[in-house]
Amino acid sequence: MKANEGASADKRGRRAADFAETVRDAAAGRNPTVGKDGARPTGVGGKNAGGHSSRHDALWREGVEEVARQGLRRELPSAAYHPALSDEKAPLVLCSNDYLALSGDPRLRDAAVRAFDEDGCGSTGSRLLSGNSRFHLELEEELTDFTGCEACLLFSSGYHVNVGAIPVIAAKAEVVFSDELNHASVIDGCRLSRTKTVTYRHRDVNHLESLLKRSGKGPKLIITEGVFSMDGDVAPVAELVELARAHGAILMIDDAHGFGCLGPDGRGTPEEAGVTEGIDIYVGTLGKAMGAMGGFVGGSQALIDYLTSTARALLYSTALPPPVCAAAAEALRIVRSEPWRREKLRSLSDMLRRELRTAGLDTGLSSTHIIPVIVGSGDRALRLARLLEEKGYLTRAIRFPTVPKGSERIRLSLRCDFTEEALKALARTLGEEAGKLGLGRGL
Ligand SMILES: Cc1ncc(COP(=O)(O)O)c(C=O)c1O
Repeated sequence: MKANEGASADKRGRRAADFAETVRDAAAGRNPTVGKDGARPTGVGGKNAGGHSSRHDALWREGVEEVARQGLRRELPSAAYHPALSDEKAPLVLCSNDYLALSGDPRLRDAAVRAFDEDGCGSTGSRLLSGNSRFHLELEEELTDFTGCEACLLFSSGYHVNVGAIPVIAAKAEVVFSDELNHASVIDGCRLSRTKTVTYRHRDVNHLESLLKRSGKGPKLIITEGVFSMDGDVAPVAELVELARAHGAILMIDDAHGFGCLGPDGRGTPEEAGVTEGIDIYVGTLGKAMGAMGGFVGGSQALIDYLTSTARALLYSTALPPPVCAAAAEALRIVRSEPWRREKLRSLSDMLRRELRTAGLDTGLSSTHIIPVIVGSGDRALRLARLLEEKGYLTRAIRFPTVPKGSERIRLSLRCDFTEEALKALARTLGEEAGKLGLGRGL
């Protein structure tokens, strides 16, 4: 062990002890931010804050009660174990989007440190003010080269891309056609656009075609996810390209979960489908398979020029930190040079899906590294997640409104550094625990 490894292990130990104390305090109903004499530190919402937030607390409590009555109350889980950095005793984390196991890769850290030394931590402003650095420009160039788009534009996250770019693009359309299972950020982008939005049945190109035929002659926009985030199934890209062509529609693919993972070279869902032309707008995120943070939109130079002048989420938000851009660029180099990561992710996913189906569990239409185990009620999903956590597996219950009522589930997302043995053991445990809830074959 190197000397500084000992020191950082020490620090990790101390952090873990602090964290454990905080959890004990919380479990005992003590608020760790309240001092021994009961005094709170000053600050917003505190005793000495002038009272302006506490005066309105009845509103927030009423709101919490309302969501609780609807069965929609959410609480932040305790700090998740970092899937790449935690020790052997930590649970197997099956709820991260770190598909290619890059977030803890020392090459990303080194790239980030070099960028920090050169350019500091924060970007200090939006891209159009002081926030543009050579790291942003280089990453955009790399993304442009990798995706084959004419140009790419970085945003602070995939969410920012959708709420920034969709309103601009949709404003030029008369109608937007959106897959009914598209992500919340796509829905929010459509809402912000105020353009009429019609949802078509999930992956149903016949339904989409009938809606397109019934619509007017004006410009149209079709938006779909590449790999659907809660189902792990894949959009019918080739058919969508045909339909878009036939109806003169703009086609936009949000490939947040496919970018880096699908296709022989990791270029995502279009590459997997063998489609090289006909997708007008491609969206990816750098916070999932790339192990970093950020999002990008790719398209023609004219589109990118237009978005650069008009996308409010770009213009009015601080740019990504340079170290994050450098780490993402390094991740892209690894994606290019280490295809084994995608290959292993795929073979592990196929194997786990087979095992779960053999145990009689419903994995829906998943064909990728995202595998739902559909249990059909929020309560069951929560109970199953709790039972699994007791056995050393960190999963999350996915409930309405994230997924439609009746399709509540545990969402399993894999990483390429899992082992076959670990996943076989998971499938056995899942079969047993689901059996206790009357699901599957109870193997
Ligand atoms: C389909 C889709 N688009 C966009 C996003 C948002 O991306 P980010 O996490 O980078 O904000 C997500 C996140 O889960 C997603 O699933």
